[in-house]
Amino acid sequence: MQVILRELGDCNIRRAEPSDLIPVMEINLKTLPEHYSDYFYESLLAELPEAFIVAENSENRIGYIMCKTEYGFSNFKKLGFVKKGHVVSVAVLDEYRKKGIGRALVEESVKGVRLRKCDEFYLEVRCSNNDAVRLYEKLGFIIKQQLNAYYRDGEDAYLMAIELS
Ligand SMILES: CC(C)(COP(=O)(O)OP(=O)(O)OC[C@H]1O[C@@H](n2cnc3c(N)ncnc32)[C@H](O)[C@@H]1OP(=O)(O)O)[C@@H](O)C(=O)NCCC(=O)NCCS
Repeated sequence: MQVILRELGDCNIRRAEPSDLIPVMEINLKTLPEHYSDYFYESLLAELPEAFIVAENSENRIGYIMCKTEYGFSNFKKLGFVKKGHVVSVAVLDEYRKKGIGRALVEESVKGVRLRKCDEFYLEVRCSNNDAVRLYEKLGFIIKQQLNAYYRDGEDAYLMAIELS
């Protein structure tokens, strides 16, 4: 049964299902240089379905976010060992951007990782990706580090994080 989280105009924001994985891979191929194996998508959906979310209009899937959970050192507390949600990938097809879909996907994934009792939520983003950095800042994420040559092409990333607990 589909779990619809919210409606945004003619677009539903809902939990992903196995039948969404190929459309999600297609969006990923069109929008981002970082790609993953089929198995990786399947494992993220199996492990954290609460934070694997798609945006869909009457015709097709138009955006997604997928995340995982990890244990590790806190991005906020010195010496703290915490449970963290991690955004693996988020994207909206170009023609559907600037309508609030990206924000809705990130907000719903925050709720999803909260359900899993994560203390923090974090992500990496290209330093040049102003649209994404602005979106995350509006939602309360803070730039905590700059990761040198994080991407294959040598670009730096910002590590951005938010405290949930
Ligand atoms: C980052 C990304 C997911 C944002 O998606 P989005 O759907 O455009 O995000 P939103 O619509 O929620 O917000 C984007 C902007 O649209 C504005 N907006 C939202 N609803 C709006 C509306 N109805 N009318 C006009 N503007 C609107 C927001 O205020 C925001 O403005 P700002 O950039 O000036 O702050 C998208 O740009 C993308 O897929 N990029 C390529 C992949 C990528 O870089 N992913 C992130 C990797 S870390």
